Amino acid sequence: MLRIAPMTEAQVPRIAALEAANFSLPWDEASVRLELENPLSLWLAALEEDRVLGYVGSQTVFEDADILNVCTAPEARRKGVAEALMRELEPLLVQKGAEKITLEVRASNEPAIALYQKLGYQQIGLRKGYYEKPREDALIMQKSLLSES
Ligand SMILES: CC(C)(COP(=O)(O)OP(=O)(O)OC[C@H]1O[C@@H](n2cnc3c(N)ncnc32)[C@H](O)[C@@H]1OP(=O)(O)O)[C@@H](O)C(=O)NCCC(=O)NCCS
Repeated sequence: MLRIAPMTEAQVPRIAALEAANFSLPWDEASVRLELENPLSLWLAALEEDRVLGYVGSQTVFEDADILNVCTAPEARRKGVAEALMRELEPLLVQKGAEKITLEVRASNEPAIALYQKLGYQQIGLRKGYYEKPREDALIMQKSLLSES
């Protein structure tokens, strides 16, 4: 059974290892650990037993929430882990005062773009050459958290 909960100190090394294995410019362990003390930050982990299968990081400044990263361990992909993390995060960001969530994604990252589209994010812009290693454009995607009623 998958359980989603706020990241804890004990999970930091595993999350930093997943960062290193899955991103060309990863957050290092010290940076991830600092997020535990940052009142603007909220990181969630997806757990099976005590094993971290995935995580999502966010920061919220007034009404603007940003997704910093989302990652699922390769062996646990396409089982709904990232979707569960992102869905669980939304109401928590609303509690922190967020009215919208923004994120950047590499233009070639089809799995992530498909995930965000499934969750209702829309492309609102393009940053040319935003990413390094390799240099690539970023799509800027956004989702409103305000209810439509
Ligand atoms: C992108 C990523 C987080 C998706 O994680 P995941 O747990 O496998 O995703 P889920 O199983 O929750 O998928 C949810 C939806 O996303 C989309 N999706 C996910 N992976 C996909 C893929 N490989 N191809 C196409 N669509 C995909 C689908 O719409 C999927 O819904 P469906 O299974 O009902 O079709 C994962 O591939 C990953 O960690 N990639 C490396 C890190 C990364 O690029 N992170 C994003 C940039 S910050």
